[in-house]
Amino acid sequence: DTAWTEAAALDDVPQDDVVGVTVAGRDVALYSVEGEVFATDNLCTHGNARLCDGFLEGHEIECPLHQGRFDVRDGSALCAPLTQGLRTYPVRIEQGKVYLQID
Ligand code: FES
Repeated sequence: DTAWTEAAALDDVPQDDVVGVTVAGRDVALYSVEGEVFATDNLCTHGNARLCDGFLEGHEIECPLHQGRFDVRDGSALCAPLTQGLRTYPVRIEQGKVYLQID
């Protein structure tokens, strides 16, 4: 039994860019890629950097601190210095709002 939590208005997630939001007390990054929205933890798994301050290119988010890259679709770590993937959250869009499965 899984609840969906409202995270943002769809209009607040800029096209082909990333934004940081707080959802259920968590720091979450929302990405819009080619009209689809993805969600991951916002804090980099390598250090104290927020991915919403990074650079999104296609489905890859580059950390602003040491340029580690993650795939926003599954959170996988794509290159050094990253050794650990990011947690991702299922996304649902309904009536112009972004909902996450988060607990
Ligand atoms: Fe993100 Fe080092 S803190 S790559």
